[in-house]
Amino acid sequence: MPDCVAASRREILAGVSASALTLCTFTNSGAQTAKSIWPKVRPAIAASVDMEAKITALMARMNVFQKVGQMVQPEIKNISPDDAAKYHIGSVLSGGGSWPTGEVDGPLAGWLSLANMFYGASMDTGDSRLAIPILWGTDAVHGHNNVMGATIFPHNIGLGAANNPGLMRDIGTVTAREVAVTGIDWTFAPAVSVAKDSRWGRTYESFSSDPKVVANLAKEFVLGLQGHPALGNFLSQQKVIGTAKHFIGDGGTTMGIDQGDAEVSEEELYKNHGQGYVQTIGAGVQTVMASFSSWNGEKLHGHKYLLTDVLKIQMGFDGFVIGDWNGHEQVKTCSASSCSNAINAGVDMIMVPEAWKAFLDNTIRQVKAGVIPMARIDDAVRRILRVKFRSGMFDDGKPTAHELAGRAKLIGHADHRALARQAVRESLVLLKNEAALPLSPDSSVIVTGPGADNPNMQAGGWTLDWQGRDVNSKYYKGFTTVKAAFERSDFTVMRDEAARADAAIFVFGETPYAEMDGGLDSLDFDVDLSAIKAFKLRGMKVISIYLGGRPRGLDAVIDMSDAFIAAWLPGSEGGVGLVDVMGGQAYDFKGRLPFDWPHSSDSNFGEGAPRHARGYGLSYAKIAP
Ligand code: BGC
Ligand code: BGC
Repeated sequence: MPDCVAASRREILAGVSASALTLCTFTNSGAQTAKSIWPKVRPAIAASVDMEAKITALMARMNVFQKVGQMVQPEIKNISPDDAAKYHIGSVLSGGGSWPTGEVDGPLAGWLSLANMFYGASMDTGDSRLAIPILWGTDAVHGHNNVMGATIFPHNIGLGAANNPGLMRDIGTVTAREVAVTGIDWTFAPAVSVAKDSRWGRTYESFSSDPKVVANLAKEFVLGLQGHPALGNFLSQQKVIGTAKHFIGDGGTTMGIDQGDAEVSEEELYKNHGQGYVQTIGAGVQTVMASFSSWNGEKLHGHKYLLTDVLKIQMGFDGFVIGDWNGHEQVKTCSASSCSNAINAGVDMIMVPEAWKAFLDNTIRQVKAGVIPMARIDDAVRRILRVKFRSGMFDDGKPTAHELAGRAKLIGHADHRALARQAVRESLVLLKNEAALPLSPDSSVIVTGPGADNPNMQAGGWTLDWQGRDVNSKYYKGFTTVKAAFERSDFTVMRDEAARADAAIFVFGETPYAEMDGGLDSLDFDVDLSAIKAFKLRGMKVISIYLGGRPRGLDAVIDMSDAFIAAWLPGSEGGVGLVDVMGGQAYDFKGRLPFDWPHSSDSNFGEGAPRHARGYGLSYAKIAP
């Protein structure tokens, strides 16, 4: 059984290279028990005797009511700071499209002032020895994406195409900084999902179908986000807590059904879906989110073997397990407002956005009735307090007093945008190029198609709101669309679409979606080809750019185009990053497919040979893909 070996401090300080922090090896043996399949992991941060003693002392002063309160996470829309204090609530979340003022364009300061109010309430208990700062979590999954004006990075699928560990660490660093400006402590990222069927509507949250790529990029992101003890910056005030999600097998469900069932052997679960946990836990990730999905028919939120025996005992994860949005209600015998089974299985903090009050009452009753052992509550609370102590929040004071708090200039800062632009450049995958690219500097172009001037399509889901299509694009502040980027470049952009330019740039893609809404039966994508045909008839080169969250069956578009670029969901700098590489003066295409790319009409999904296999991608320089 592999023991994950921590890199020596000297090694880390000298290089801080990707390999220096490779904490674990990938191996696997056969037998069906936790010990023989899952490795022991040595987390980057070990439990300290002093801290555990502090936690013990604090817990000795807490009653059941105060303990259970720590385990409950309502949504900010559904709880006031006063109630959070009254019920000793341990954490709140803001979900997709939940803004503190209720308006997407509310003042940036609104985030920080609400954080201050929750913090103030949690500390003002009347008995300072019981004051426990409240944690605020949010989905900063491609930048601080619920905040207007924030830097929006490409979604994970694009970062998987880029596959640059150093870049991932920097993105973690920058994301933490923008989150810290708003007074928030915790992001529900990275997803370490390994999407095995691209019909899954969350494929774009997955870096790749290759577990090693996922594990390595997620690890680097965590190191940037949380820092690392050997770097002297672990959960400093510039850092935020990360979450490896969704444990486990979320990307392996049959037919890619969201919240479905991963019908795979335990070896496969470990080999394909477990690597991201091994690496992020090794890197010190402090929270793990349970998955909505099942493993062989049993919901993860009620899976004691996986949550407790495998994750906590065998793999040594000593942070806390957060439930997903009412994920517990899908466990047998549970409802949104009551679920002893999830707690007994090992979920430490329950994300119960609405029914939190009833959940709290029911849980206290279940503890008193002996349905939930007090020892389980104590373990959960110890884990939550451990993360809170490690994060420094007991000492850091109110959110407004933190180092980066309120530094509005950091939101969407030029340096952050430059990093996102680099990420875009590296994420683009060139699938076809018949002498259409690079564009010569004196080219004239027409930039058209449904994605040409469409920030929503460029960003995808989890941007300003949940599904990514409901907030008007005028609120996508700081976005440069493909059309706008060309207009700002040295290329001649012809506004008359009936004109004859050297090239037509046809930008199209998927209508934004997130979980649930994004599920597909077939990857086939019907695209209106009339514009492409008309350009071809005029003797123009057509360069098609696809904006979307997964590879789609697009044979007709690809065949008809002279060049085809998969740009994924590139975010706020999508336009400028594309122009950088299409100009070809300074940058080449580097991205390689993170997933197989299907043919159209591949109705027997996964059975036919792909049009292009994972790893494919062209460059200007004649490097074999
Ligand atoms: C998603 C999670 C997310 C949570 C909070 C859930 O529906 O599955 O990925 O972190 O909501 O928004
Ligand atoms: C929230 C998301 C959440 C989802 C779960 C939405 O209303 O905004 O954050 O993940 O509900 O169903």
